[in-house]
Amino acid sequence: MKRRYQAVIFDLDGVIVSTDRYHFQAWSELAEQEGIEFNEQINHRLRGVSRMESLEIILEKASRRYTEAEKRELAERKNEMYRSLLAQLTESDLLPGVAQTLAALRERGIKIAIGSSSKNAPVILERIGLAERFDAVADGNGIVSSKPDPEVFLLAASKLALPPEACLVVEDAEAGVVAAKRGGMAAAAVGEARSCKDADYRLESIDQLLSIV
Ligand code: BG6
Ligand code: MG
Repeated sequence: MKRRYQAVIFDLDGVIVSTDRYHFQAWSELAEQEGIEFNEQINHRLRGVSRMESLEIILEKASRRYTEAEKRELAERKNEMYRSLLAQLTESDLLPGVAQTLAALRERGIKIAIGSSSKNAPVILERIGLAERFDAVADGNGIVSSKPDPEVFLLAASKLALPPEACLVVEDAEAGVVAAKRGGMAAAAVGEARSCKDADYRLESIDQLLSIV
């Protein structure tokens, strides 16, 4: 039987591991230091978006303009806070059902990949013990444009040597669902992304993937 999808491309932060909490924590701390309003609603817009683009969204609420050099310093400061939070990350931070779902996909001969906007993806995968687990990793270090641009997912598909239509993307970010669709891939939404109208599937839990592929 030919399967509908030959690969699943997973977003990392908020899909595989709960690092989305740490991004929120680090941005909250930075915003507080700078006296800029920041909340969950604004944070929603940062999901899947690159570090510098996230900063630009946060600065929409700033009461003054920041120079390019200041922006670089802010992004660096946030990343340092984020990296110190990552230091506590372990395999126990894998989101529920992830380990079993990855194993079951493998068993069915379905390829698995990462498609993440994060430049910290390699260090995260190392800390959660999944560095060698994926057939391909495409992340923020290998792309020019971040989600909603499809570049990172197209890079993952080309590393897998598969056409986009053979790939199913799993995302917790609206920007990620849009990126998958623009790239010609199917999109399964978890968490906050389930409210995105472009999603092809909405998952209550990650193991529901096994009834789709
Ligand atoms: C994405 C997150 O995975 O990575 C975004 O959803 C984040 O919130 C982006 O801004 C870039 O991450 P990093 O680790 O390169 O700052
Ligand atoms: Mg995410």
